[in-house]
Amino acid sequence: MTMPSRTAPFADWMAATQARTEAALARFLPAQDTIPARLHDAMRYATLGGGKRVRPLLAFAAGELTGARPENLDVVACAVEMIHAYSLVHDDLPCMDDDVLRRGRPTCHVEYDEPTALLVGDSLQTQAFELLAGSALGDARQQLEMITLLAHASGSRGMAGGQAIDLASVGTPLTQPELELMHALKTGALIRAAVLLGALAGAPLSAEERTGLDRFAKRAGLLFQVVDDILDCTASTATLGKTAGKDEAADKPTYVALLGLERARAYAEELRTDALSALSMFGERASRLTQLADFICHRQF
Ligand code: IPE
Ligand code: IPE
Ligand code: MG
Ligand code: MG
Ligand code: MG
Repeated sequence: MTMPSRTAPFADWMAATQARTEAALARFLPAQDTIPARLHDAMRYATLGGGKRVRPLLAFAAGELTGARPENLDVVACAVEMIHAYSLVHDDLPCMDDDVLRRGRPTCHVEYDEPTALLVGDSLQTQAFELLAGSALGDARQQLEMITLLAHASGSRGMAGGQAIDLASVGTPLTQPELELMHALKTGALIRAAVLLGALAGAPLSAEERTGLDRFAKRAGLLFQVVDDILDCTASTATLGKTAGKDEAADKPTYVALLGLERARAYAEELRTDALSALSMFGERASRLTQLADFICHRQF
């Protein structure tokens, strides 16, 4: 699949990258009829045919900075997206957020059953690392760094840790720094990993460039969850493809609960501006990342 040029309209680039990701995921996941067929069917159900693919988009955009090969970016993007898909399957389980709708369809445990959904999460997680470790990506040290980064971002000091804080904080008012830590872990860590892994798939960055990219990645990750909180209370279930209004109903600690809608929106704008300023050293090479920060901030779902 040929990708649109660097100057192609953002919407075209986004659609092409999403289609490329869908095809790569379909290729990298075990076939539907591989035994145990029900588990593999459920893994494909939870991963394919939906989602904005924001993390793959970020990986591809960061890879443009370092001239990464698209085939290597397929691997990185899909590994991160498999972790993301697993996190959603578990997030929706009755023992967590207890949601019945995801990406406009019944959640995995509703369509299949709870034990299957649990195993889908387990299997997508290990599939992600099998893919990342088992593909020839070039420099072996760089590849090890990528594997370590993704593992850290997914585990107890990343996404899973953030989810633990989220669940433990229901009904408990958090301070802004506490909320920021929770968001940085549960959502920010994986978004940061998508950006850094995309860049690491290409030529090395200077220390200064890496610091700048990391600052962008952290701000974009936090921005993503602040906007998720805002949309939960402003958008409809039909638009979101997941149940709206759940956070308030479940007494979740969110930026809207902490700051109110208007100040949460202002904070999102602040994070967007901060994210963009971190990219200034890259000039035109970062245009896709810039466009993605705008998309993350102003998206409708
Ligand atoms: C939703 O993520 C869960 C969060 C981490 C906030 P996305 O909004 O990226 O979900 P999809 O992949 O597009 O469905
Ligand atoms: C989910 O946050 C974060 C992860 C899945 C790690 P939310 O619980 O707010 O995500 P949604 O709103 O259900 O997509
Ligand atoms: Mg949750
Ligand atoms: Mg949820
Ligand atoms: Mg949410």
